[in-house]
Amino acid sequence: MGFSYNFLFPYIILGMCMASSGVPICRKVFVDCERVSRLPYGRIVYNGWSGDGVRVIYVYPSPKCVLAPTTIISFSETVSIVEKPLRNNIALIVEKRGGKRKKYVYPRKTYLEFKKLYIEPILNGEPPFSSGVVFAGAPGTGKSTLATLIAQKLGIPTYVIDPTIQSKWVGDSEQRLMNVIEEAKQNAPSLVIMDDAEWILSPRSLAGGEKELQVLVNMQNILFKQLQEITDKELNVLFIATTNVKLSEIDEAFKRYGRFGETILFPLPDYEAVYEVLREIVDEATAVRLARMAVNSGLNMADALGLAKRVKHGLEPEIKEKTGRGYKRIYVEKIEGFEKIFMFFPKEVFEKRSRIYVPGQEDVITAVVTQILYSAEKTVLQIIDPRHVIEAVHMANITGSGIIVSSLLDPLILDYIHKNADTPVIYVGESPPRYVPYHMFYPLPNLKRIVGYKPIVEAVAKMYNVDIPDNLWRKIENASVSDKTFEEILKTMISLGVLTEKIISTIKTHT
Ligand SMILES: Nc1ncnc2c1ncn2[C@@H]1O[C@H](COP(=O)(O)OP(=O)(O)OP(=O)(O)O)[C@@H](O)[C@H]1O
Ligand SMILES: [Mg+2]
Repeated sequence: MGFSYNFLFPYIILGMCMASSGVPICRKVFVDCERVSRLPYGRIVYNGWSGDGVRVIYVYPSPKCVLAPTTIISFSETVSIVEKPLRNNIALIVEKRGGKRKKYVYPRKTYLEFKKLYIEPILNGEPPFSSGVVFAGAPGTGKSTLATLIAQKLGIPTYVIDPTIQSKWVGDSEQRLMNVIEEAKQNAPSLVIMDDAEWILSPRSLAGGEKELQVLVNMQNILFKQLQEITDKELNVLFIATTNVKLSEIDEAFKRYGRFGETILFPLPDYEAVYEVLREIVDEATAVRLARMAVNSGLNMADALGLAKRVKHGLEPEIKEKTGRGYKRIYVEKIEGFEKIFMFFPKEVFEKRSRIYVPGQEDVITAVVTQILYSAEKTVLQIIDPRHVIEAVHMANITGSGIIVSSLLDPLILDYIHKNADTPVIYVGESPPRYVPYHMFYPLPNLKRIVGYKPIVEAVAKMYNVDIPDNLWRKIENASVSDKTFEEILKTMISLGVLTEKIISTIKTHT
């Protein structure tokens, strides 16, 4: 029969192809294209093969296979993502159809870990590291954005589950969840994005009544069972849950391997990341100025973008310091001279896991230590709220930042930091930290001897946005005050925020 002959013919050819080359028949092919076009049967396609305005982005079951009439071909909008490595981050340059361009910047470690464990296996037709992954971190750090970008890059069927899946009818929410999961499994390889998933990751802290909590717990159990099954059967389905709840608030049961095996952390952005994103909107000098303000105030990327947009519209930047995540990345201008301190104190001290106590007034010493860490080529993270120490330490480890922390914090907190930080920890304050080991380092006298007071005052002035009139610089530089008095001067500078007559006269009396 003509019909069946035509239908079978490609299989005969394909059968021969497979026998001779070992290339399997494609079950699924996902392509980016300008217009929907037919791919010719009997042809070998590869990930990345392109022709006639078509770019093949995903081939299943293997990165190379032969097209058959039964192959499902999915077309997606053309999105190209180019990765550009920066110093601490990776820029993703996304070009959409029509030449629209956007730049996203993620910490190198965050992006590469996710890519290696999850994106690359899927692109190679293999199951990901685990069937679920959590994107966790402060609001506005680009978690939802990255999940969407990945869906576009992979071009595989994507399902989104958000809190609206919950229904007031008994049993309904559970059934709806089950339906989505079943569909994702049938259409594997596929992606399920659970955006703003705190309702299911941490239901005990959010549920209103007992009945509501029971429904959420039922849904959690369905999800656990399904995730474990998908991992065990090595199905090619990936669940990405995004959340901004603190790490300590995510139910432990989620983090088990086979469920949401890994938590990919999205730290607050550093100066480099903010500068790169803002530079797309405003001029060089403004990007430098705003990026510094944003980072030192603990802003996330979304808020930093808002700031730049305000300035672009001719408004003054308005910043409210954010402390909600319990830490901030510090970025101030690097001041020459501090590297000379390494003549007295080896640079290696600021390598992995060193523990150093620098005595003195906390704010002054923080400014000085920040400069010393910069000279040792470290970025800096300051812990400002001990309640969120777990997340802060994780973020320091991810970003390789030196941690500056008050020596007066509760010994239990300091002990946690000491045991868990893989980066240098610098305790600052008037009295030494208790019950943790440290080396003591008092840099002020040495700095004064080698470079004079000027860089120290400059460091403090930059850190706390204090303006110092030009005519004062020479006096400060030559000042022959005692270290104690000098610290007093710095302290006053900080507490006043601006250099007032009082400080000017203090410096004068000691010159
Ligand atoms: N790393 C980044 N690079 C560039 N733009 C970013 C980045 N992070 C966030 N943005 C911008 O900020 C906005 C908010 O980002 P997004 O919604 O992805 O954040 P989120 O981490 O999911 O926040 P939430 O936890 O509140 O859901 C987006 O418009 C996005 O373009
Ligand atoms: Mg989000």
